Amino acid sequence: VFKNKADLATHLKPFWAARKSIGFVPTMGALHQGHLSLLDAAAKNNTVTVISIFVNPTQFNNPEDLVKYPRTLAADIQKIEKQNPAVVIYAPEVADLYRPNEKAAPFSFDGLEFQMEGKFRPGHFDGVGTVVKKLFEIVQPTNAYFGEKDFQQLQIVKKLVSKYKIPVNIVSCPIHREVNGLAMSSRNERLSDTERKDAALIYKTLQQVKLKFGTKSAKEVSDWVTKVFQNHQTFTLEYFEIADESTLKTCFRKSKNKKYRAFIAVFVNNIRLIDTISLN
Ligand code: PAJ
Repeated sequence: VFKNKADLATHLKPFWAARKSIGFVPTMGALHQGHLSLLDAAAKNNTVTVISIFVNPTQFNNPEDLVKYPRTLAADIQKIEKQNPAVVIYAPEVADLYRPNEKAAPFSFDGLEFQMEGKFRPGHFDGVGTVVKKLFEIVQPTNAYFGEKDFQQLQIVKKLVSKYKIPVNIVSCPIHREVNGLAMSSRNERLSDTERKDAALIYKTLQQVKLKFGTKSAKEVSDWVTKVFQNHQTFTLEYFEIADESTLKTCFRKSKNKKYRAFIAVFVNNIRLIDTISLN
């Protein structure tokens, strides 16, 4: 476990020098099976696997969300060691990554940043871009693993890498779900048992969306989803979008040669959850 980038660099130097492949999984901790599945993918295909655990302050547009974000470093380390004792853990303090009062750098991701999460979480992707770029510079990975759970983030990281010509291969990994279909998330820890059961409606709805999109327009499907959540007091729908997978722009008219995906952000009482499903 390395607490600072200098010690991590000392450890990684021989691997960089020998051009060994380094697999990297950036996280904010409160690890669950979804994170661990990324670690497995990394360990399978690289000589060394590095995971970072860092709750990045610059990507939280809501200060309360930053304060409430679960921090469980000791338990996280145990989970990683149980899964794979060879994994290198980088768990820095804010001062190891940011100068005092440093803010997120402004990024352009060619419009990807203005869709969905970008609309509802202003500045969020500047924060993600800032920290992921710093982490890539520190770890210098060969391959970096990101979950499709945060599909917009995945596309933005791919854009970051191509714009700044960062020599890393971005690997996308499937969404890991609870038995009831709820996408695993560190935020799920804040759900009560009843809320966790109710939240199964999110993925159930997405599965229905996939079926309906075969015969109905994006607008008809979206209206149906709005109604589904209006009928449940526990939920407040923030957005539902059917969008082009590569541009993330809303689908108004289906085109045969495009790939579409449904995206949803919904509050279960005051806990904000997101999910996504491929519609092709
Ligand atoms: P975090 O939310 O901790 O997620 C870390 C990685 O795990 C992301 O790539 C995310 O998509 C993936 N992940 C989360 N839940 C998953 C699930 N159920 N199945 C598969 N993968 C899942 O995303 C972040 O942290 C941060 O924004 C970060 C990239 C670390 C920058 O701070």
